Order: sequence, then structure tokens, then C-alpha cells
Amino acid sequence: MKEISVSFMSLLCVFLFSTLFSCSSKETLSSDYEVIPKPLTVKSEGSTPFLLEDGITVVYPENNEKMRENAELLATYVAKQTGLKLNPRAGMPVDGAICLTLDLSDDNKEAYKLVVNDKRICISGASEAGVFYGIQTLRKSLPVAQDVNVSLPVVEIYDKPRFSYRGAMLDVARHFFTVDEVKTFIDMCALHNINRFHWHLTDDQGWRIEIKKYPKLMSVASQRKETVVGRWCSGIYDGTPYGGYYTQDEIRDIIDYAAKRYITIIPEIDLPGHMQAALTAYPELGCTGGPYEVRETWGVSDDVLCVGNDSTLQFVRDVLSEVADLFPSEYIHIGGDECPKVRWKECPKCQARIKALGLKSDAKHTKEERLQSYMIAEATKCLNEKGKQIIGWTEILEGGLVPGATLMSWIGESGGIEAARQHHDVIMTPNTYMYFDYYQSKQVEDEPLAIGGYLPIEKTYNYEPMPKELTKEEQQYIKGVQANLWTEYIPSFSQVQYMILPRMGALAEVQWSDPSRKDYKDFLTRIPRLTAIYDCYDWTYATHVFDVNVDIKADTVKHVLSVQLSTMADDPIYYTLDGQDPTEESAKYTGPFTIDKDAILKTMAVHPSRTSKISIDTIRFNKATLKPVKLLQPNQESFSPDGPVVLVDGRRGNHSFDTGAWVAVAGNDLEAVIDMQGETTLSSATIHVYVRKDAWLFDAKKFLVAVSSDGKNYKEIASQDYPAMQPSDGDTIAEHKLSFEPCKAAYVKIKVVSEKRMPEWHLNAGLTPYLLVDEIILN
Ligand code: ACM
Ligand code: ZN
Repeated sequence: MKEISVSFMSLLCVFLFSTLFSCSSKETLSSDYEVIPKPLTVKSEGSTPFLLEDGITVVYPENNEKMRENAELLATYVAKQTGLKLNPRAGMPVDGAICLTLDLSDDNKEAYKLVVNDKRICISGASEAGVFYGIQTLRKSLPVAQDVNVSLPVVEIYDKPRFSYRGAMLDVARHFFTVDEVKTFIDMCALHNINRFHWHLTDDQGWRIEIKKYPKLMSVASQRKETVVGRWCSGIYDGTPYGGYYTQDEIRDIIDYAAKRYITIIPEIDLPGHMQAALTAYPELGCTGGPYEVRETWGVSDDVLCVGNDSTLQFVRDVLSEVADLFPSEYIHIGGDECPKVRWKECPKCQARIKALGLKSDAKHTKEERLQSYMIAEATKCLNEKGKQIIGWTEILEGGLVPGATLMSWIGESGGIEAARQHHDVIMTPNTYMYFDYYQSKQVEDEPLAIGGYLPIEKTYNYEPMPKELTKEEQQYIKGVQANLWTEYIPSFSQVQYMILPRMGALAEVQWSDPSRKDYKDFLTRIPRLTAIYDCYDWTYATHVFDVNVDIKADTVKHVLSVQLSTMADDPIYYTLDGQDPTEESAKYTGPFTIDKDAILKTMAVHPSRTSKISIDTIRFNKATLKPVKLLQPNQESFSPDGPVVLVDGRRGNHSFDTGAWVAVAGNDLEAVIDMQGETTLSSATIHVYVRKDAWLFDAKKFLVAVSSDGKNYKEIASQDYPAMQPSDGDTIAEHKLSFEPCKAAYVKIKVVSEKRMPEWHLNAGLTPYLLVDEIILN
């Protein structure tokens, strides 16, 4: 009996102990407030944290539906990220709860205060939207883990956005994304405090919005027969029909979904260009009358709306009228970009309209540009009648801005600057900082095929949208910033996410955070918090921020390459120079070093949660390597910020024109002189040219080599002409080598003759292409 009793007691003890233990010892993880975007002020005073556990109530004001939805969203976020089940209910703020209130008095309606002490968490907003941003900050402060409690340190955060317009654009015309995928895009926006979703719904390659009055927009214009494979001019097609559109019911559902997340959807109907899909359905709306095909490749179509045709104007009015009725947004985007005027120049109806309107060419605008402005003005008139305002791309400056228009500056910032000077509102979205379809890594071989460009996250992060050229008064017209995702080369939603995340984090900080709070290094330390949330939602994202940042500078005085390596959070870096993949046994990076002979530099960083990708830089020395080099003709300096030295840095440019490796000229030839620093015997010269005709990169027409012993008198020793490029020529890095009788040279002059005008067969015939040259090899 005694024995049994002891056993029973001990069993009971074990049971009680384990129950108590399991309740009280559910692991407690601590949170912090290291969120993206960085809040305006964060004060931490006091020591006892708030313990977030299962069953904690979220109270919100009675009879406020939006606040109820805020509370529900918070509970959903917390459940997803931590497994904790919160309990939303209407009521007054109380201790032990998360209290959502509207009692912050602030001119900025998106402002919020997040106060945490040992008794309660309080988010007070200047509006329901402000509360929503407080909720975002709170959920981003939480760890991502399941079956835990969370300890929240005492804090007082006061925060508000820098810009009122914080946008992200998704092109669903080139590739179509489902309703659920669009909602996920909206979730991604919400996590980054973005409040405008610019929805690019129509283009040459597909019409994606139901318009009741024009059923063939759905049955014909939303479908293309097939899609180009690879670059737009590859000439290869996949033979697979492609299409899709959103019904008005689906669109209403998406608008509602976005509205609950304080995101206004700005639909874009791109006109009068980018209309080939609509013309296929209604050929009478074009200048030639067709027939047309929904465009199967990328680029810009010459076939645009015929503005001389009354039924075209009626079509525009009808479409915009349905769009205006569908979308609650005050702003409707009407495109206006990339509208070639070739058809209008030849079209009797367009010319008659020009005449009837008395449009004249002058030094500023052609009469066809004024016709474009007329079309934009007609569209604006129709939308104004519906109580709407228009937004258009940079090109709506052509022919003059219509009153009240907001300009979206994509061709750099100059259009935005001009519009602000004319006292028009401006959204900055310069392609070089804000086009997320550009490559995010220099190692393009490892990336999915992209349109081109090079936009590392750091460049987006460091973008300052307020042009210094503007006065304080003019700066007030800069209403915000947007990033764009064009989807020509983005067929799947996971690739959409890969291109956007985590660059959207950098965007968020440009849009939201006060410039005084921005610091790239600090931003990087906060990135893992954000990627943990991406992981939690199974969102695909790019991991380049975890990789080693390899900075190699050529020094033609010391004849070495200086190598500097860095990582996001000063993680340990290992490297090799012999082409072996590095491991944690390899040389550990301790500071800058130099390379003065052939090497294959491979690096790797070890971050607590992952090992980075291995970077590879191949360095090959030849007789020209690291010798002083100068250019005799102008070059396009933005292509090679380090200057002409990249021609002789021992490193070859790859299939990315924007990484600084290529020296570019346009409209003149490339002429370089290399100082061999003493008589050197040579018998060959080689150059590389990056050829990609869709990006206006043309091959050399001729290559000449001359040598000199004094740097003054040159003797040509070899030259070769090359055939003109043909439409069938593919993308390549062309190698041009000239061999000659061995000769001695103290100076070598390289001349590469460029194509000066693009030929008739090219989409942009007559314009000036680029010649991109890298690594000059002398042996
Ligand atoms: C644009 O990128 N065509 C606005
Ligand atoms: Zn016409």
C-alpha cells in the first residue's frame, strides 16, 4: 500500500508538474521593433515587458466596422506568425489587452502611436489607416515561430509616412496573374506600408479587364495565339495560346480586398499607344483598319488608336466610363507612354483631325504630339465628368500637360522635375531606381532571364525622390514614389515575388521613412526579420542581400586589383583564388587585399541562418592588363562609372550592360590608347562587343589597331570590316581578334567603328544604337 501510494503520489506529481511546466514554460521569445520601414521615433523606457499569450483580447471601438476588420487582420497575422490565438472584440481599452483606438490627433491621417508597457499594448491612429500601419509595425516586430509566447519590450513609437503616395505597379497584360495571386501581391504591399496598387490592365499583348460594352475585348483581345521565347526579337515562338482577364465581379472583390488593407487600386488603361490587343478585337479603331494580331512579342507597336476616328473617341469614353464606375479611386491612369506617331503621320483621318483642330508643329512639339495631347485631354474630360483625375507616364508632357494631370516620371526624373515646375503633381518612378524587372545581381548567368538593366537593392534604397533642382515650393508637388514590375520576362507569380522581394523593403523605406532615419547598413540588419515573414507566408524572394558584396577596383599605377569584401551583417567571409569552392576551412577575409596575377576569386559568407551563394570573379592578365588607358572620343559615362580602366581590368563584361563592366559609345566611335609603359612585342589584339539588338546594342562595323613608339605618331597594323547586323542575329558577346606580324609598341591605339543609325528592319530604325566594348586583350 505504502509503495502504491508513493508511486501514485509521484505519478500525480509528475502529471501536475508537467502540466504546469507545459503551460508556464511554453517557450517565450522576445521581440524587438527593428522593422522595415524604419519608424520615425522609437523610445524604450521601462523594463517589464508585455507578455503576448493565447487568448489575449484585441479591443476596438464599438460600431466601427473598419476597426473590427483591423482587429481581425491583426489576429490573423499573429496567428500565422506565432500560432497565438488572439480574441478580437468591441469594447473600451483595458489592461491585459491589445487596444486599438482612434484617439491620436495628427494632421497626417496615416500617423499612429504604438505604446507597449507591462499592462497593455495600445495602437492609436489618426485614422483607421494609421491604426493599420501600427498593426503592421506590431506584426513585423514579432518573431516568426510556432507554439511560443512573445515578450514585447516596453516601447513608445510615433510614426507617420514621408509620402502620401506609396505605390507599386504590377503589369498583368504581358503575363496574367490569378485573382489569388493579385491578392497576394496586395498582401505584399500591405506588409511594406504601400497604399497604392497601380494595376496595369491593358497592353499590346493582352486586354485583362471586362468591359461590358465591348465583348470582343474579352473574347479576342484577352487572348494571344502564342508568346515569343527568350528576347523579343528571337524569332522563336512557343506555339501555346495564352490569355486571361478579370471579370468586373472579380475586380470588385479585389478592390474590396485592397481597401481592407488601406490600398487604393489605380487601374491603368494604357492609351493611345499599347493598344494592339484592343485593335485586334476592333480593327476599325486603328489607322490602317488592320487586320491586327494580339501582339506575341514584346517591344512597342506602331499600331495605336486612330485619333482621327470618332468611334475611337467614343470607345475611349465608353471604356473609361466603365472603369471609372468600377474603381472608387479618385485617380485613373491613362498611360500615354511610348506612342509612336508613324501611323498618324500617314493616316488621312488623323491628319484631318489635326487640321480641324488647328494643331501646328513648332519648335517644342510636332502636330502629331499635339494630337496625342488632344487624345489625353479628351480622356481627361471624360474622367473629370466622373469626378476623376488622371495620371499619365512621362510622355504626357508631349504636346503639353492637360490641367490637373499627375505625371508619373519613369524616363529618369527630368519629366517629373519639369511637371513639378509647371505645378503638376508628380509620382517619381525613375526606371534606373524603381524598375524591379531589372536584374538585381551582376551574375546574370544565375538569374532568370530579365529585360536587362542592373538594379541592386542598395541602389533602390539610396534613391532620394526629392530633386535638389526644385525649390521648396516646387518640391511639394512630389507626392510620392512607386516601383514598377513589367512582366514581359516574368511568366510566374513566384518570379514576380523573386523580382520584388526584398527590393520592396528598400522601396518601403524610400516611401515611408524620414531620410534622417535611413541607413543602408542598418537596413540590412533588419532584412532577416522581413525575410522570416516572407518564409512564413511561403513567398519566394531573392537572397542577394545575404551574399558577399565583391568590390574590385583596378589600379593602373600599382598594377593590381584591389578587392574589398563585405556582407550584410559583417558575417564571416571565406574565399579562394584558385577556382575551388570556398568552405569554412578556406582563407577567412580580414580586410582588403590585392590581386596581381591570373585568379578565379570565389567568395562565400556564413550567415547564422544560411550560407550565401558563391560569387565568382575570373581575372585573366594579358599585356594590356592594368596599363593606363584613355579614350579619345566621348563615351556614355553612366555605363562605366569606374571609367575606361574597365577595358583593361582583366575582367570580362557579361550579359548585363548595366553593371559598369562595359564602356559604351553612341553616335561616335570608340577610340582607346593604351600606354604599354615600355616597348612591348605584340602579335594580336582582341576586343569584345556586347550585341543585343532589342536593347539597341549593335556590333562593331570595323576594328583597327595602330601602334606607336612615342604616343604621337601611329602606324596602322591591322584592321577588319564586319558585316552589318541582320534581323536574325541573336544576342551574343562577339569576340573580334586581329592577328598581325609581331611588332614592338609603346602605345597601342584601338579604334572600334560603331553603327550610327539602326537599320530599317529594326523597330527603332533611324535612332542611334550603342556600341559596348569590354576587355581589350593584347598579346
Ligand atoms: C513604361 O515603362 N513604358 C512606362
Ligand atoms: Zn488615324
